[in-house]
Amino acid sequence: MAGDPRVQEVLERALAEVAGARSTSDLEQVRVRVLGRSGQLTTVLRSLGSIPAAERPKVGEQANRAKVEVEAAIAARLQTLKADEHRLTLQADRPDLSLPGRRVPPGAVHPITRVTEEIIEVFEGLGFSVAEGPEVESDYYNFGALNFPDDHPARDMQDTFHLSADTLLRTHTSPVQIRTMKAQRPPVRVICLGKVYRRDILDATHSPMFHQVEGLAVDRHITMADLKATLQLFAREMFGPTSGVRFRPSFFPFTEPSAEFDVRCFKCGGEGACRFCKSSGWLEIGGSGMVHPNVLRNVGYDPEEVTGWAFGMGIDRITLLKYEIDDIRLFFDNDLRFLQQFAGLPGR
Ligand code: DAH
Repeated sequence: MAGDPRVQEVLERALAEVAGARSTSDLEQVRVRVLGRSGQLTTVLRSLGSIPAAERPKVGEQANRAKVEVEAAIAARLQTLKADEHRLTLQADRPDLSLPGRRVPPGAVHPITRVTEEIIEVFEGLGFSVAEGPEVESDYYNFGALNFPDDHPARDMQDTFHLSADTLLRTHTSPVQIRTMKAQRPPVRVICLGKVYRRDILDATHSPMFHQVEGLAVDRHITMADLKATLQLFAREMFGPTSGVRFRPSFFPFTEPSAEFDVRCFKCGGEGACRFCKSSGWLEIGGSGMVHPNVLRNVGYDPEEVTGWAFGMGIDRITLLKYEIDDIRLFFDNDLRFLQQFAGLPGR
């Protein structure tokens, strides 16, 4: 065979090295050594000028063929090596199926949310729907339309978080009464649940943010007896079948007459020799009354034609009582040891 023995030698050695490469990086080194800019084959091709002119074309062709052959061998080997390396990686990364799984602790519904949902269920069962209103309110909805006189002490900067002269964080859910009545004609049966804000110092029984539920029923011939029956039913659903409600005369600007209502102590059954209710036999729960004629007029209703009752109570307080929790701050600390106690409780 005519041909340059140097080319033949480089070719054979290159093919052997390609076959012997153990990794893709090994193979890359072989490629550089043979085909690289100062590689063995490249050097031969460059030295063509120094061989006799008659042999140049032949040797040149031989070297080019050798180059193609080496390139093909490298490509083939590369595929094999890549497949091997891929298999090794998969093997190394294979999960250990015998390892124990990671536990995901079950979440718990927050006690306030639990009680909120229970309240909604009771009142939806009575045909009430849920109304919502903004937490940032105007002075008019929070106070004025609810028949608070301009100099009422509750308007004091001490009690209310003001955002401007006219806007504030609602101090109760009662402004939703106004919004609801302005938006629809009687009959009205709604409850509104949500956050309210007052400038209180946080301690075991006070929080500057807490939750209220407001109830409102307006129709022809609505009486205070309807109010009491409704609260009675609520108390039994919430605190048990032997629970009950009593009214105490009170005053609110937006109701006339007004009554605070208590629920019979479910610890002592109203007996009284009990720390839970401070021996009174009753637990104070909220305020209520017949919607004041001025309030009805403020929303465009005719107090000669319709009457209504309303109530408002604190959801946090009900939750504290129901689960016998002695510090309201526990609701907002996000301490999992507290919250997890509500994980296993049966739903309603
Ligand atoms: N808004 C009152 C408060 O925050 C609670 C209240 C009392 C609501 C009597 C009412 C009501 O709807 O009739 O203290």
